[in-house]
Amino acid sequence: MRRGYHWRAMRRYHVTTFGCQMNAHDSERIKGMLESLGLGEAVSQAEADVIVFNTCTIREKPDQRFAAHIAQARALKERDPGTVIAVGGCYAEAQRERLFELYPEVDVAFGPGSIPHLAEWLGAGGVGVGRGRFGIAEERAFAGELPMHRERSFQAWVQVSMGCNSRCAYCIVPSVRGREVSRRPGEIVAEVTRLADEGVREVTLLGQNVNSWGRDLAPDVRTEFGELLRACDAVEGIERIRFTSPHPKDFRDPVVAAMAECDAVCEHIHLPLQSGSDRILKAMRRTYDRARYLRLVEKLRAGIPDLALGTDIIVGFPGETEDDFRATLEAVEEVRYDSAFTFIYSPRRGTEAAELDDQVPYEVKRDRLERLVDVVQRIAAERNAERVGGVEEVLVEGPSRTDEARLRGRTRRNTTVNFDGSAAPGELVPVEITSATSTTLGGRRTALVAA
Ligand code: 5AD
Ligand code: SF4
Repeated sequence: MRRGYHWRAMRRYHVTTFGCQMNAHDSERIKGMLESLGLGEAVSQAEADVIVFNTCTIREKPDQRFAAHIAQARALKERDPGTVIAVGGCYAEAQRERLFELYPEVDVAFGPGSIPHLAEWLGAGGVGVGRGRFGIAEERAFAGELPMHRERSFQAWVQVSMGCNSRCAYCIVPSVRGREVSRRPGEIVAEVTRLADEGVREVTLLGQNVNSWGRDLAPDVRTEFGELLRACDAVEGIERIRFTSPHPKDFRDPVVAAMAECDAVCEHIHLPLQSGSDRILKAMRRTYDRARYLRLVEKLRAGIPDLALGTDIIVGFPGETEDDFRATLEAVEEVRYDSAFTFIYSPRRGTEAAELDDQVPYEVKRDRLERLVDVVQRIAAERNAERVGGVEEVLVEGPSRTDEARLRGRTRRNTTVNFDGSAAPGELVPVEITSATSTTLGGRRTALVAA
């Protein structure tokens, strides 16, 4: 008998996801695929016959988190050797066969482009696997046509491209997710239409660089991202369209115009700055300088009323001096972001920047991060305070995380709102804003229509 007192007819899986929204979306496909093999979802690893990790390797921290998590799976497998451990995602792709040396308990490993083959590697219908296999498909494939297990009935991610053609000196993504390939527009719009028919109201278009989408397509279907936004906007039932992430170097006028003209496209852009120093931007191979970035911000704000801007910033890139760092602080003051993700530079094996000599000491990086976070939070709090007294359209997501009696949702500008009143998840409701912090708004449902 297997663990526990009950013989279970149904085999169960458990998926742990690390990393970005693209990975979270890949996990929906992994789950859908396991379900199509007849497995059910387990509430915990301990209940699972197949334990899956969908990993990230963008910085050292997710690598370490994975190491901590897999230790638990190893212990479970020692008790029940029939347990299958599968490791997918970017860390698996970066390590390849080395993964089996580091973690001998792993049965199967697969990269982000190989999800469509997972069923065959797990042994269709059963879960017998050849040990120590790294599943590499000859051709990467979109997971778009696979069965999907969606976490929310009214929100969905839609993949528009895979891979990335940029060569940012710090970033591991191009080497683990490969060259950029755009999904065909017809396929994307068909998926959005199907989702809308199923009750989805908000879609987030995903790509490593959404704004270069379409350039690699065959001439007969070649198009650009603005056209895709317009096509998705025309789908009946879709009330909100988001996308992530654009690269500042590829943000062209037709996309700005589409954002301004399409009712469903939300007034929010996540526009990674990375650094405010021209010298560092150059060393990072970002291909824009601070002045060009700021001009783009000006154009976006002029073209799209009430736009919210978010960003990613790295501190402590090799060679970053105090002056370079101050230039980043200045750029943040100038743009006044509504939100920002801030990171300590983390050398990644195989990237250009990891080979540079002048790595910044950890204490210096830590200190810069703290100073940056102070500025980011102060500005975000000021920006959010400006919303107090207004009415925002909120898409209800569920109960508030901090107070079960309240509801939580997000504004079109992508700010989380905790509010009083009743509404069902998936509903769009007007909320009067009464309070603000650097990351959230507070309010109450009102009868007024959002301005
Ligand atoms: N170190 C720190 N941050 C990184 N990012 C990407 N690579 C690294 C790295 N090696 C950040 C960038 C990117 C975000 C997803 O992660 O800011 O936009
Ligand atoms: Fe996402 Fe990058 Fe992490 Fe891969 S390495 S999961 S692309 S953040």
